[in-house]
Amino acid sequence: MTLRKIAQIGHPVLRTRAREVSREELASPEVQRLVDDLVETMRDANGAGLAAIQIHEPLRIVAIEISGDNPRYPYRPKIPLTILVNPVLEALSEDTFDHDEGCLSVPNLRGRVERHARLRVRAWDRHGHALDFEAHGVSAGVYQHEVDHLDGVVFVDRVADPRTFSTWDNYERHHRDAFVAYAKEIVARYGG
Ligand code: NI
Repeated sequence: MTLRKIAQIGHPVLRTRAREVSREELASPEVQRLVDDLVETMRDANGAGLAAIQIHEPLRIVAIEISGDNPRYPYRPKIPLTILVNPVLEALSEDTFDHDEGCLSVPNLRGRVERHARLRVRAWDRHGHALDFEAHGVSAGVYQHEVDHLDGVVFVDRVADPRTFSTWDNYERHHRDAFVAYAKEIVARYGG
């Protein structure tokens, strides 16, 4: 496995549409290696998720994992390591919530994005097996952030109120407690 370089905002690859992966490609050693690299790179950077496009591979593959020991996200419900290939998201209700987001491709910036609170997620896993599950609340926010990357969308595009932009330091100092309290309400209302 290899740590890959994470594309930073302004790099054109982040603004392209990633393409679908065929079953044959997915089974190839090259794409399986890419999935391994994606996971390793995400973990090394303490990310909650990473899209292949962020490591300069414009394929529709994302990795998501929220483990209990991620120092950036202690309040989030855990998500075991999940690889989504060709994911399709469907909002299951009109409910939305405010999600404070950051991104490994946008250094030292957080901002507030409106996200669907109830989602259906359909995709393949890394072996091409069908996945079909629901994601709710702050966990649903993570799926939407990652799948946005596959369409060339970065969270900053969706920040409706630019006054919510904050560095990590200022977020920790001035905004984190309020968001954690709010996130706990969202988790109580919608679950993970
Ligand atoms: Ni991101």
